[in-house]
Amino acid sequence: MAILVTGGTGFIGSHTSVELVKAGYDIVLVDNYYNSSPKSLERIEELTGQPIKFYECDIRDKEGMSRIFEENKIEAVIHFAGLKAVGESCQKPMEYYDNNIGGTLALCEVMRKYNCKNIVFSSSATVYGMNNVSPLKEDMKTGGTTNPYGTTKYMIEIILEDIVKSDDEWNVTLLRYFNPIGAHKSGRIGENPNGIPNNLMPYITQVAIGKLKELSVFGDDYDTHDGTGVRDYIHVVDLAEGHVKAVDNILEGKKGVQVFNLGTGTGYSVLDIVKAFEKASGVKIPYKIAPRRPGDIATCYSDPSKAKAVLGWEAKRDINEMCEDSWRWQSQNPNGFED
Ligand code: NAD
Ligand code: UFG
Repeated sequence: MAILVTGGTGFIGSHTSVELVKAGYDIVLVDNYYNSSPKSLERIEELTGQPIKFYECDIRDKEGMSRIFEENKIEAVIHFAGLKAVGESCQKPMEYYDNNIGGTLALCEVMRKYNCKNIVFSSSATVYGMNNVSPLKEDMKTGGTTNPYGTTKYMIEIILEDIVKSDDEWNVTLLRYFNPIGAHKSGRIGENPNGIPNNLMPYITQVAIGKLKELSVFGDDYDTHDGTGVRDYIHVVDLAEGHVKAVDNILEGKKGVQVFNLGTGTGYSVLDIVKAFEKASGVKIPYKIAPRRPGDIATCYSDPSKAKAVLGWEAKRDINEMCEDSWRWQSQNPNGFED
């Protein structure tokens, strides 16, 4: 029996694959390499010390996906595959709805055909929208998303809930991630953004290696302790361990729909992160204050207590470790996997 990891060579998928093997699971990965590369697979094999079964396939390709289920006994799927850039989703909404929603529907159809009805889905804190007040809890109202990317996550949550309503053999775990940063301790796998990064940590690390000149801090007039935006940054290996616990939990038996926040419960501002990064790396980060970025909220952090109570999971790695590990990955791989 194996766990199928869609988007398995991506940022979170690669770290989760390593932790699944460490926990004793057999894994099968599928990815179309749209936003990752064969190098990532090689590194996963290096870190786990074993060959990893991999299929280069688009999850929307039902024939290709059926082959994976024919050739392997899949007992659960962790579904990471999707497009994730907020800004790009506003320019290319059709591509985002097609890939994220079309991809999930095609995947679920193939899963049903092979009677595999356990799925762990990568959702996001973005489903809480703009109006809930942090700390965010799983039972707060969702929706009111402000971009097509966020809306795909919100819609997929509803689709998966409806699938469970229609057939109670399905078990669905929705994991709402906060802001994943950091990298594997080895410095061998990490986040590999295409072009100029949108997210804070990869932007900072690229300033640190001299690829980018300075950081623009988007707004210093928010109602936060220093005026800059506050987020719940979580180490990607903690996030990966959360997926292992979610798989353990779903394989224990009938679960229906379960929803968990994966965050630390602590918020840091943009300037807190700049300071923490400078301390961890010894590199000064030049920055300027820029206008607010449209769609950003002042503060977003989780209440992670449900994951602790039900899954026995909590984040263990602090902000210093997140910065050290992000820096090790970036400084050892200045061009990501392209070296
Ligand atoms: P990533 O882009 O590094 O990984 C996604 C992987 O999916 C890539 O390797 C890509 O090639 C693959 N992929 C995309 N479309 C595919 C398709 N149709 N068929 C097969 N493979 C496909 O992103 P990530 O940061 O690892 O994110 C993983 C998941 O977590 C995504 O669903 C993302 O929306 C979600 N998420 C990410 C964050 C974050 O900040 N990184 C936050 C919340 C949720
Ligand atoms: N920021 C800057 N300068 C930058 C980049 C970001 O000041 O160059 C600030 C933002 O304004 C925000 C904070 O840093 O206050 C974090 O921004 P990110 O872009 O790293 O992360 P977001 O919280 O905006 O978005 C993330 C994911 C989305 C997800 C969202 C909610 O990237 O996919 O969390 O879960 F939808």
